[in-house]
Amino acid sequence: MSKGSRSSTSMYSRFWLVIAFLTYRIRTNKVSGQCHTAEYSVRGMYLRGHTFKNVQVELHETCYFKCTEEVTCQSYNFVIGLNICELNNRTKEARPEDFLPDEMRYYMKHLTNRVPLGSIAELPAESCTEVRASEGNDVENKKHWIYSDEKSLPIETLCEGSWQKVNGEYSVCFGAKDNQYGSVTIPKSGRLRAMKLIHKSGSLRCNRVTGSSFWGCTYSAYNGKLSTIITDADKNAVLPPDEDLEGFNVSQSHGCGTEKHFYSLDGTSHNSTVLVFRNLSNPLSVSRDQELQIWYGQDLKDCSERGNSGETCVDVFAWYE
Ligand SMILES: *[C@@H]1O[C@H](CO)[C@@H](O)[C@H](O)[C@H]1NC(C)=O
Ligand SMILES: *[C@@H]1O[C@H](CO)[C@@H](O)[C@H](O)[C@H]1NC(C)=O
Ligand SMILES: *[C@@H]1O[C@H](CO)[C@@H](O)[C@H](O)[C@H]1NC(C)=O
Ligand SMILES: *[C@@H]1O[C@H](CO)[C@@H](O)[C@H](O)[C@H]1NC(C)=O
Repeated sequence: MSKGSRSSTSMYSRFWLVIAFLTYRIRTNKVSGQCHTAEYSVRGMYLRGHTFKNVQVELHETCYFKCTEEVTCQSYNFVIGLNICELNNRTKEARPEDFLPDEMRYYMKHLTNRVPLGSIAELPAESCTEVRASEGNDVENKKHWIYSDEKSLPIETLCEGSWQKVNGEYSVCFGAKDNQYGSVTIPKSGRLRAMKLIHKSGSLRCNRVTGSSFWGCTYSAYNGKLSTIITDADKNAVLPPDEDLEGFNVSQSHGCGTEKHFYSLDGTSHNSTVLVFRNLSNPLSVSRDQELQIWYGQDLKDCSERGNSGETCVDVFAWYE
């Protein structure tokens, strides 16, 4: 071993001793009273692609304070040897796929008074899903700042876990006949993995005799199945996808015949408060300001709708990838 490499090895060890000490100090000072065993500085790792500012420092400890001075700083990478702090506007929890090995760096999370992702206009998140990944399960059901188109045009929107509310202040209502579909203008471009509807008010009837339902027709031939369908603006079924929809058998001689307009969904019945559609195996690409429609099956297919009445009003949530 050459002299040079021995001395750099010992410098390296001394360096990590200081890091360990710093981490220890931060842990005991800032989270006193709690039993934390988490490692806050991660040697040999860094977060790629989220650096908004580089700062040259004399002492690596200074990085922590440089980070606390920036409202959008979520974490930093320290470049060993070059003494550069790379201030990041994401944590490794928000972007696990960008957390990568690099022997010449270490990663450190902004621990105290970090501004939660999406909580201020200066730090919009990509989606409610990203907010959830960054902040964990205790994401409040409140408004967050989310980019509405790629990495631009932030909007304030309600996140409920990973779900983003896509209707505005008012719930969306759909009737049972005469093309009374509910219209939703999608506020954010992206890929939808699932959607859900939360019942707010009202119910529908598919004849004058059998009872009302939030989501379907209570007539016995429907066998408890549901008939609330989300389509695109051309009335093509989006959720449930077309392959999940059923029609009647020819022998049943129903006014809707073999038109595909009802489906079953495990755990959801006529008056369930929440209708969660199944996850799409191929996520649906949507663009900002695109219209989606909510239809009652018979109204969608223009069949057997003469005796129909009522309307159901819902809030609409989308799960973006
Ligand atoms: C976050 O950092 C990236 C560069 O890594 C930058 O493009 C982006 O604008 C920053 N976002 C905010 C909200 O500062
Ligand atoms: C659903 O709820 C409505 C009132 O909101 C009620 O009239 C109807 O009977 C219920 N239907 C079923 C199938 O429970
Ligand atoms: C149509 O017939 C098949 C086979 O008999 C049966 O499994 C299915 O449930 C029927 N469809 C309806 C809507 O009743
Ligand atoms: C859909 O995917 C999410 C995330 O992977 C999962 O938590 C959820 O249980 C899935 N829902 C269904 C109905 O499979």
